[in-house]
Amino acid sequence: MESMIATLPDQFRWAAQLQTPAVPAAASALVCGMGGSGISGDVAAAIADGPVFVHKDYGLPGWASTLPDPVVVAVSYSGNTEETLSAVEAARSKGLRVVAISGGGKLSELAADEGWPVLKVPGGLQPRAAFGYLSGSVAKMLEGAGIVKETGLEEASAVAATLLGEDLNGPGRRLADDLADGLAGKITVVLGSARTAVAAARWKTQMNENAKSPAFVSLLPEADHNEVEAWTTLGTALRRTVGVVTLRDGSEQPRVRARFQPTTQLIGEGATVVGEVWSQGTTRLARLVSLVVIGDLVSLRLARTAGVDPVAVDAIQQLKSTLGES
Ligand code: F6R
Repeated sequence: MESMIATLPDQFRWAAQLQTPAVPAAASALVCGMGGSGISGDVAAAIADGPVFVHKDYGLPGWASTLPDPVVVAVSYSGNTEETLSAVEAARSKGLRVVAISGGGKLSELAADEGWPVLKVPGGLQPRAAFGYLSGSVAKMLEGAGIVKETGLEEASAVAATLLGEDLNGPGRRLADDLADGLAGKITVVLGSARTAVAAARWKTQMNENAKSPAFVSLLPEADHNEVEAWTTLGTALRRTVGVVTLRDGSEQPRVRARFQPTTQLIGEGATVVGEVWSQGTTRLARLVSLVVIGDLVSLRLARTAGVDPVAVDAIQQLKSTLGES
């Protein structure tokens, strides 16, 4: 997994230079995908200038046909994820325009049969390790549709390269190792805001899949209206089992920014606040990616410490095969 994560800067550069298939202009987008593919829709929604909705389920929401001039973007690295294929079938039956992003599989075959624009991403990786290919492809497709004005892909590549450094020994590694050492053996809570929510979700899923470690996301200001009540009452044993990391961004809404210090002080009565990570860069994408790469490195260090294989996702594969998905 280390060698796959090391290719993230190249993946964003690949996407920056991509000649995408012609995508019709659209006023809104509905990105359909699961897991490591689906998060590319969340990234697009965070950097877009027009409305981007993300769908991670079977079929399509009832309101899909009422979207203004929509394009449905189906993303599946394997091309065989049944929820995504089901969403695409629903889009076809509703007569919605579809574009596909995939490494192959049934989604690519269907797109070719239907004559939909299809973007093939390089294969051979775990879907979650293809984060740059997938989120970069969605960003470029939506740029073509006129919904994303500035992808930020070149800067995302540069920021990732700086933090990862040669052989993953850059400045990001030192920060990540310190955080991971504080989180080892704990349940992680990633506390963020609207500005960092997508990166927080990626931290959670990378800890789940790479480190096989439980992790949860909590966002301000919402957590100040419910969760804070629960933190202070945790007993000593539980307190030792929860580690909190905050993900920060220089463009946080000022009142959201003002909440982090008093909230972490309250949380600190019930859990270990392990550290804080600030985003870097100018564009929205680069800032998200700067947080994502630290989280990826934290998850790899946690996997090493726990002695688990970060690549294998046996439980996911087992469920897919139990449900008859190829
Ligand atoms: C595996 C991973 C998973 C998959 C998900 C959907 O590395 O990240 O979350 O992304 O099971 O599969 P695909 O991406 O092939 O549609």
